[in-house]
Amino acid sequence: MSQRPLRVLTGITTSGTPHLGNYVGAVRPAIAASRAPETESFYFLADLHSLIKAQDPARTQRSTLEIAATWLAAGLDPAKVWFYRQSDVPETTELMWLLTCVAGKGILNRAHAYKAAVDRNRADGEDDDAGVTAGLFMYPVLMAADILIFNADRVPVGRDQVQHIEMARDFGQRFNHVYGHDWFTLPEAAVDDNVATLPGLDGRKMSKSYDNTIPLFAPPAQLKKLVFSILTDSRAPGQPKDTEGSALFQLYQAFATAEETAAFARAYADGIGWGDAKQQLFDLIEREVAPMRERYEALMARPGDIEDILRDGGRRLRERYATPLLAQLRDAVGLRDLGKVPVAAGAVADIAPATRPLPAFKQYREADGKFYFKLVEGERVLLQSHAFDAPRDAGQTIARLRSGALALADVPADTAEGVDAAAVQAALDALAAADAEKAAAP
Ligand code: TRP
Repeated sequence: MSQRPLRVLTGITTSGTPHLGNYVGAVRPAIAASRAPETESFYFLADLHSLIKAQDPARTQRSTLEIAATWLAAGLDPAKVWFYRQSDVPETTELMWLLTCVAGKGILNRAHAYKAAVDRNRADGEDDDAGVTAGLFMYPVLMAADILIFNADRVPVGRDQVQHIEMARDFGQRFNHVYGHDWFTLPEAAVDDNVATLPGLDGRKMSKSYDNTIPLFAPPAQLKKLVFSILTDSRAPGQPKDTEGSALFQLYQAFATAEETAAFARAYADGIGWGDAKQQLFDLIEREVAPMRERYEALMARPGDIEDILRDGGRRLRERYATPLLAQLRDAVGLRDLGKVPVAAGAVADIAPATRPLPAFKQYREADGKFYFKLVEGERVLLQSHAFDAPRDAGQTIARLRSGALALADVPADTAEGVDAAAVQAALDALAAADAEKAAAP
């Protein structure tokens, strides 16, 4: 295989308003990773996935805009990475159908998100699938299409998404197997355990579901108010404070250098007042967020520019990867130009050599317990072997015949009508040509 840069693909859920926890846990590390050398990075807004949960069109549009602006403001450079919107690459949904037709339904039954919905229904005494859309059920297949359409090697995800990457591997592998060629790279999940989960205002993990978040681009006055509302203990100024278990300290650490963190720990030991500590945290967050907020606001004032950036990314990606791949895949599954393939069955003799069915060796066991092989082209048997005691012997004979190490005259075989040596040789040549083509394919 030719050496190409490692492809790293990141899907961004377009729901909600980004908060500091999203920034520290996802956006900031992903943008740092986007600058890694020797990688081709893909960042996309999973807007089709968002429709599974959010069905308010105005909110869907708004959220897509906000999240795109957030990533750009935080430093994602669309000139260096692929930045696009899932729905701008319609080959993704077309591929989803091809994958749907090889995906095991039983595997989807075991997907965590779907199973959790079923479990809730059972606990409530409802029908298993009450309120479950087929979109939720098919979520992993769409996600697999996102990944496989660009043959991504690595997909950075949280632990909760690892199962989805495994499913993408499974579907890709099945497709490769059914259609006899390595069409898809099998992706690996990359889970980064070092990424901090940020505490929220109440000390629990910052999350929309706990209503304890600090919006990333809150105006300074609101940011300050929220920082001052972070839960602390009741120790007075002058009393030493514990850094252990202090949400304020953890938030500080997420934005500080190592030296600043050490100094802040000393201030805790020296009994800094909570008001002072909060002011220091506010200043520190502002230092990092203020320049981004400025870019964010400028971007939000020109939504048409963001639209252009996304469309441009999608257009170039389609041209470069998605459209050619889908053309190959359509051909692979038999969605083909009818003018170029045989229409009538049984007319094999009339078919031009180039469109004859590819010959194949078939190995099998007879009722006598012995092993045989035959070389067939469509319905026609070109060569029928004698019995072998072990399947290995039959396999080795095939291999030697294919490689040219064994002359046809020396093959222990007979065929009812006698062996047509020219036809066998043509079949072997066709197989060799097909192998060479496979090896050369991207
Ligand atoms: N499911 C991912 C999440 O909730 C988002 C996503 C959609 C994704 N498609 C993807 C992530 C493809 C990685 C690759 O975070």
